[in-house]
Amino acid sequence: MEKITIKNGRLNVPDFPAIPFITGDGIGSDITPAMIRIVDAAVEKIYGSGKKIAWKEVPAGKKAFAETGSYLPEQTLEDLRKYVISIKGPLETPVAGGIRSLNVAIRQALDLYACVRPVRYFRGVPAPVREPELLDVVIFRENTEDVYSGIEWEAGSKQVASIIEYLRQKHDISIADNSGIGIKNISEAASKRLVRKAIEYAIGNNRKSVTLVHKGNIMKYTEGAFLRWGYEIAKREFASDVITEKEASGNTEGRIIIKDRIADNMLQQLLLNPSAYDVIATPNLNGDYISDLCAAQVGGLGIAPGANMGSDAAVFEATHGTAPELEGKDKANPCSLVLSAVLMLEYMSWIEPAKLITAAVENTIQGGNLTSDFAGEVKGARIVGTAEFADMVIKNII
Ligand code: NAI
Repeated sequence: MEKITIKNGRLNVPDFPAIPFITGDGIGSDITPAMIRIVDAAVEKIYGSGKKIAWKEVPAGKKAFAETGSYLPEQTLEDLRKYVISIKGPLETPVAGGIRSLNVAIRQALDLYACVRPVRYFRGVPAPVREPELLDVVIFRENTEDVYSGIEWEAGSKQVASIIEYLRQKHDISIADNSGIGIKNISEAASKRLVRKAIEYAIGNNRKSVTLVHKGNIMKYTEGAFLRWGYEIAKREFASDVITEKEASGNTEGRIIIKDRIADNMLQQLLLNPSAYDVIATPNLNGDYISDLCAAQVGGLGIAPGANMGSDAAVFEATHGTAPELEGKDKANPCSLVLSAVLMLEYMSWIEPAKLITAAVENTIQGGNLTSDFAGEVKGARIVGTAEFADMVIKNII
């Protein structure tokens, strides 16, 4: 078992890398073993005994709480940091109260500032729009700031009382007494590093455009500033690679077009004119909404992969939640986690097994063997369980 390392942004991946995984709550115990079997089969098919992942389970969520009394043990965070690349199933977050989101805690602890979500259509997946294949985007969602960073206080608390009093006295602003208060913080540094990563990705992957999505018409000094800082970094650091939509006026000179759209307009644009968009860079909350909309367009969360990336670590993860009603029933669709593992393999530059898995998933779906979330909507489909779906993908690999 060897360690993946990262130095000055350059990854070094040994032939037998240790990769930590979090099984996850709910359907995590159905989809995570399926993902591991598929990845192992593809890696063996391409590299024989020359390369293999040494999977290392690390506890988080309910399983960790039962074993250690903590939902997110310090050792788990330490391992995710130490081994650089890891993958996780979904973790439960109680609504209104209780523990804060473990997913958010992991992102913040490891400073995984970019949530990366590629969304494209797989033929054979039932989708709610007429031409789902027109959507092929990669969403870069800022991961550490915005109303998501958890700076908020409960209505009636001492903190809220003191903030209301401060705003009234110092700024002549009145807020209703019984309010909860949250802070929306968006910084220059976090905005710029996110947009930089999105533009670098667009350049490295021959993408056509990067669209900055914001709600700066209303939230001028947070979302509006994100837009301004985004353009600043594009012009300053990528002057010879990019051109703004206004400057381009039909002629891009082979450069990546930088566009901007207001978030509410973008939500309808993605439905009405999906092929106009490619890489998307946006603050945290917008990115959350946009990711789910795009995933739904190509057939739902069961098929959308995701990654959280920082400068020193990356955690790949299914984009859906724990689907508690399906837990342990061998019904969940493992595609989101499997395709997240594909992203992970690409990130490790193990490109051939990544391609093999993508093709095998596509062939399995096109063959009409579908988990129950998809099968109901496809005429003549055969319903398969999670484990059997994985078996069929593996058959298409070997
Ligand atoms: P969810 O994604 O678990 O479920 C939404 C709907 O999609 C349900 O009908 C579910 O059955 C279905 N679904 C989701 N994944 C599926 C799959 N792989 N195969 C078949 N059907 C699937 O979202 P929900 O209900 O909002 O959240 C449940 C829990 O998951 C909450 O505690 C939430 O906080 C957590 N969560 C965790 C995430 C993460 O770990 N990254 C992300 C989103 C939610």
